[in-house]
Amino acid sequence: MATMDFGGVMEEVVTREEMSLTRARSILKGEVVGILGYGPQGQGQGMNLKDNGIKVIIGQRKGGRGWQDAIQDGWVEGKNLFDNIADVVDRSTMIEYLLSDAGQKEQWPVVSAHLRQGQALCFSHGFSVVYREQTQVVPPPGVDVVLVAPKGAGRTVRANFLAGSGINSSFAVHQDATGHARERVIALGMAIGSGYLFPTTFENEVFSDLTGERGVLLGAIAGLMKAQYETLRAMGHTPSEAFNETVEEATQSLYPLMGKNGVDWMIASCSTTAQRGALDWSKRFEDAVRPVMSALYQSVRSGEETRRVLETCGAPDYRERLEAELDGWRNSEMWKAGATVRALRPENWAAPKSGVRQKSARGAKPSLQEKPAQKKNTAKQAKPGPKRKTANRPASRASQQKSASSRLSTAAKAGGKQKQGRKR
Ligand SMILES: NC(=O)c1ccc[n+]([C@@H]2O[C@H](COP(=O)([O-])OP(=O)(O)OC[C@H]3O[C@@H](n4cnc5c(N)ncnc54)[C@H](OP(=O)(O)O)[C@@H]3O)[C@@H](O)[C@H]2O)c1
Repeated sequence: MATMDFGGVMEEVVTREEMSLTRARSILKGEVVGILGYGPQGQGQGMNLKDNGIKVIIGQRKGGRGWQDAIQDGWVEGKNLFDNIADVVDRSTMIEYLLSDAGQKEQWPVVSAHLRQGQALCFSHGFSVVYREQTQVVPPPGVDVVLVAPKGAGRTVRANFLAGSGINSSFAVHQDATGHARERVIALGMAIGSGYLFPTTFENEVFSDLTGERGVLLGAIAGLMKAQYETLRAMGHTPSEAFNETVEEATQSLYPLMGKNGVDWMIASCSTTAQRGALDWSKRFEDAVRPVMSALYQSVRSGEETRRVLETCGAPDYRERLEAELDGWRNSEMWKAGATVRALRPENWAAPKSGVRQKSARGAKPSLQEKPAQKKNTAKQAKPGPKRKTANRPASRASQQKSASSRLSTAAKAGGKQKQGRKR
């Protein structure tokens, strides 16, 4: 493993130098990887493995989205796609258990009955094993029990692979029955498209993952955005102004730059006014949020969060209840305003979506349609097929930079660029 300095703390990571794809292929040469579940992770990991030359078969129940997606992706029923997961366990040497976490609990009696000595059981989340008192998932002693958890959605696992990059993943060994568990999981981790792998334990993976998605990745950010939007609206700001200042500028301009250069760079690169405000208010938000974060972590560790997931997500009418709950978000003023704002992005002008009317009530054309020159340009840039995306990408990056520049001081911009140059 390579030892690297993470902000002064030395940690070990597995890079592609240590585990090249060629080496991973040779380790996995005799293995048949059975993927149970064709949700976002099953799809992303399964397709990447197949494209990397690994022998893969899929176990997915019929009648749902997963089966449709598998057929659409070219998996063939009876050849490498089966609706009987017990059959797939029998045919595999390594099993990736990628059903939903509630589905893993439900199907465990079937899976465990078919596991045999020497197989590897691989998870992408520590959930089922760590909270075994709730799930009853206790693998038998003769199998390797490992984890490789991509730090991103299944779609990103696939998109990064297709773009020639990779996704960061953590890995862990819970049980080494064969003496090769570590080698097997690292090889699998690289073959599913990881850029690098960092070691963890099943416990740490699930504690940090559940905290992250309930916190900054999704729950906290959704709550923070809603609170700011509604504050602005209550103070008389229009929906478009409130949405642009809360979400659009964040996601289209500042967050991509933070992702590229770090929040420290972003703050350093803002106008003096924005910078002073961010530094002063970040402390107030931090102080307000820290007790909530701490409560969240305790709720995860105590098993309260997983208990709720299993209780609600495993219910037979969960899909309908979830849709009703999500409709509340979709039909809120904020996210309807968001749909209109997104449709107004120049790259979407060619096909205006919800909220953009072709004609006003009086029949006059709205301003969107009154810019034929711009529309023409967009149409010119847009080429059919896969090239279209590529053609649009530089334009949208340029507009992100342009938008960000409203908050960037000239000196800071130059400094930031120099810094980036040095980094590379
Ligand atoms: N999504 C992520 O960002 C992410 C990232 C890292 C790790 N993980 C972990 O990866 C694993 C898979 O997650 P995911 O997001 O890909 O999938 P998911 O959406 O949670 O699960 C979908 C799959 O499970 C099947 N399924 C659900 N309940 C079932 C049941 N009772 N019996 C049989 N099949 C059932 C679905 O079939 P149908 O299509 O027929 O409903 C579908 O194939 C989980 O452990 C998750 O925590 C996810």
